[in-house]
Amino acid sequence: MCGISGYIGNKDAYPIIINGLKRLEYRGYDSAGVLMYDGAEINLSKTKGKVSALEEITNKDPKRKEGNIGIGHTRWATHGVPNDLNSHPHLSQSGDLAIVHNGIIENYDTLRKELISRGYTFQSDTDTEVLVNLIEEVKKQEKCKLGKAVQMALTQVTGAYAIAVFDKKKPNEIVVAKLGSPIAIGIGKNNKEFFIASDASPFIEFTKNAVYLEDEEMAIIKLGRDIRVRKIMNDLQIETSIQELQLSLEQIEKGGYDHFMIKEIHEQPKAIIDTYRGRMLADQGIIKMAGVDDNLEKFLNAERIIIVACGTSWHAGLVGEYLFEDMARIPVEVEYASEFRYRNPIISSKDIVIAISQSGETADTLAAIKLAKSKGAFVFGVCNVVGSSIARETDAGAYTHAGPEIGVASTKAFTTQITVLSLIALKLAKAKGTLSNSAFHTYLQKMQLIPSKVEKLLQLDEKVKEIARVYKDAKNCLYLGRGFNFPVALEGALKLKEISYIHAEGYPAAEMKHGPIALIDENMPIFVIATNKGHYDKVVSNIQEIKSRSGKIIAIVTEGDVTVKEIADHVIEIPETEEALTPLLTTIPFQLLSYHIAVMLDKNVDQPRNLAKSVTVE
Ligand code: AGP
Repeated sequence: MCGISGYIGNKDAYPIIINGLKRLEYRGYDSAGVLMYDGAEINLSKTKGKVSALEEITNKDPKRKEGNIGIGHTRWATHGVPNDLNSHPHLSQSGDLAIVHNGIIENYDTLRKELISRGYTFQSDTDTEVLVNLIEEVKKQEKCKLGKAVQMALTQVTGAYAIAVFDKKKPNEIVVAKLGSPIAIGIGKNNKEFFIASDASPFIEFTKNAVYLEDEEMAIIKLGRDIRVRKIMNDLQIETSIQELQLSLEQIEKGGYDHFMIKEIHEQPKAIIDTYRGRMLADQGIIKMAGVDDNLEKFLNAERIIIVACGTSWHAGLVGEYLFEDMARIPVEVEYASEFRYRNPIISSKDIVIAISQSGETADTLAAIKLAKSKGAFVFGVCNVVGSSIARETDAGAYTHAGPEIGVASTKAFTTQITVLSLIALKLAKAKGTLSNSAFHTYLQKMQLIPSKVEKLLQLDEKVKEIARVYKDAKNCLYLGRGFNFPVALEGALKLKEISYIHAEGYPAAEMKHGPIALIDENMPIFVIATNKGHYDKVVSNIQEIKSRSGKIIAIVTEGDVTVKEIADHVIEIPETEEALTPLLTTIPFQLLSYHIAVMLDKNVDQPRNLAKSVTVE
């Protein structure tokens, strides 16, 4: 996700754009830029870093702030690491056109090669710079206006975009277009000013009247005139409905949700799709991952995979252990990075280390990577932040495309990490022949169904809320799971602990008899994962042991379960899937449960006490 903020009107554009970018930093913050037009020339300022870094540049030269029209951008890198050159806005080769873009142009490489053959050169590694030069080339060839050139250029593009385009030779208009990424147009009184933004937060205090473009729509914004919205594919003008916004500024930044955490829980279907998009080609039975493909021999010849991580990422790593050993038959050990780095571990060049980190900045994980590299191991990173320290330190990697995760409690990072690990395990299993072709294809088909199953689980929110209401005053909780779902039990306990401050422990279900069962009485809620795959009968026995000691049982079961329903105090039914993929589903109710309990206890859900989003110190 990136943030777009633009203005055209009778006010100074700069303060409106910059404040808009600050409000959009939750969408991306690895680099920022602003282009101003002062009536005579374009002034472009852009830099790696947050909007504050951009202000350090513009504050040095007043000319960089002059003008009543401008477009700004705050970036979450997808193509090209965060640096000054890759920051937006991007100019066309002539310097006449400028663009800001949120999304991914999937066929940018083909378009780039075609433009190079026509004499274009590129300053950055971005897909966005290709798009602005494609628009320029169409404009030149067709001798047409900017709006027509944008429309024709976009018919050649595949991917997702929200764009704002400016032509210094026609400085009284801005062209916007949308496919897959959001863009809103704030409309000032009598069309005397217009605001362009990824959501309404940059302009909500100026106007509550807005048009939200739908997919495959574009608009030419001209002062003093109603905006004209047209369909991109056939250039036909369509009626626009102006909405009167009721949301508060804070609600808009959170997409209408009360907290970033619940917003990010609900973003998981899209985050999982974005993570396997372009990598898992289920119809062709292929998994493409450059970081793995380029090092396949290393993975296939590895004597061992060591997974290092912290917190939730460590729990994802534990799921990875079950996936790699079960599917690809490669020995795995999962290490807390903070322990691994100090215990003088035995590491050889035959080892592959997989470092998992949402932020890509966790100090212990970074230190563990450096230790492993110093001992000759090949290190592979699974990060969510492009260009982060861990992403740069590792030998290769695969990004989770979850988008910025603002809530301290990790949610969509966990499910997208498991998605990446599942793809790697499946890819290696296919290459090693430890998984039959039919089983491989089944997994790909089942993985494709996961986002819709997560979507279905999110509809259970009210039911989970009822359960949260019953147990919100518990002082201690236990979470139990077996096999692939043992790590989910640990993760569920961590979620509850870190945002509601209720003590909770996760255990392998069979471990109860070795001590923890002494804790059980009528005051102890026990959350048990009892899906119909993976030692179901054994888990049922565990539940009966708990029941006989008056424990309160909340069970996650597979749809249609009857046995557990008769024993447990509450059941949450999840859709059926392959056992190895159940963690992507069973974790959802636990995320919702911890969220609702924390809200009912009036805790600071997005910024719990004592915690930071990224632990960059030891
Ligand atoms: C999980 O909800 C916490 N935010 C925390 O445990 C986190 O997973 C851990 O600090 C690791 O962070 P990373 O994934 O950014 O490395």
